[in-house]
Amino acid sequence: MSKLLITGSNGQLGQCLKQQLENTPNISCYFATKKDLDITNEQALGDFFGEHPFDYCINTAAYTNVEKAESEQKEAFLVNAEGAYHLAKECKKHNVVLLHLSTDYVFDGTKKTPYLEQDQTNPLNVYGASKLKGEQYIADTWNKHFIVRTSWLYSQHGHNFLNSMLKFAKQKKALTITTQQKGTPTNANDLAKVLVTIIKTENTRYGVYHFSNQGEGTWYDFATAIFKATKELDTVRLAKTEHYPTFAKRPPYSVLNCNKLKNTLDLTFTDWEESLKQIINSK
Ligand SMILES: NC(=O)c1ccc[n+]([C@@H]2O[C@H](COP(=O)([O-])OP(=O)(O)OC[C@H]3O[C@@H](n4cnc5c(N)ncnc54)[C@H](OP(=O)(O)O)[C@@H]3O)[C@@H](O)[C@H]2O)c1
Repeated sequence: MSKLLITGSNGQLGQCLKQQLENTPNISCYFATKKDLDITNEQALGDFFGEHPFDYCINTAAYTNVEKAESEQKEAFLVNAEGAYHLAKECKKHNVVLLHLSTDYVFDGTKKTPYLEQDQTNPLNVYGASKLKGEQYIADTWNKHFIVRTSWLYSQHGHNFLNSMLKFAKQKKALTITTQQKGTPTNANDLAKVLVTIIKTENTRYGVYHFSNQGEGTWYDFATAIFKATKELDTVRLAKTEHYPTFAKRPPYSVLNCNKLKNTLDLTFTDWEESLKQIINSK
């Protein structure tokens, strides 16, 4: 029986993991919310790891508000960089394999083909910089890590693009969506499955990996696919814009090449539009 700690368990990915792990034998889970375990509190973290033995830790805890991070740099780095560092130190001390999540926003989006794990990083915003610092702390501290960079997460849980679009459509709001960025919408349930597979197969090919659903699109394409799947495309007031003002700069292209993880786990990954249809049909 493997013992697994999930941090930030009230978040979107944390909740998807909870659903995924409910039916997974041979893994006993401790779901720790921010209230249970604040990863920025080094003392509390040390005490917690001292009291509870784990084999694995999935760190889903993060400061994820990309816009707000521009004015809350200290807070973003505290969670995404320092928090990740404290966790890596505890994992090393107690020989716990650390699965950590990072982001496509570590890249600047100047590439024209999907990003590989070893491609040059160059974050354009505070959130991306804080996540990159977290990656670097982990890599420098503890070799038994999987850093999984992912992109444009959505699910049935929490605040995300899918739930916002569904809500706005219900309120009959006019929607103007940007075509400025290209990336890959990723179903957080698919990400949860991949993380659980790494644990179930006791994989030891540690390192940095990319995971997203397959294919690419803009946020406008994502919105269009949502309303196609809900059969509201003819009724919803959806328009595209090339200029959508935001505080945080975003990479114009941040598609991730996921072949390394596909080959390591011997899996195929679902196309983003297909996975979106599945989630909408199951709602
Ligand atoms: N969402 C995306 O589009 C996206 C894209 C690429 C990568 N990622 C990465 O994927 C991971 C999961 O994202 P998500 O969408 O599940 O994020 P989320 O829904 O924002 O969940 C993050 C969770 O972490 C908690 N948290 C914040 N500070 C904490 C602290 N100091 N100690 C413990 N918990 C803390 C949050 O609690 P509160 O809500 O109470 O603050 C929240 O429950 C993150 O590492 C994120 O950077 C996300």
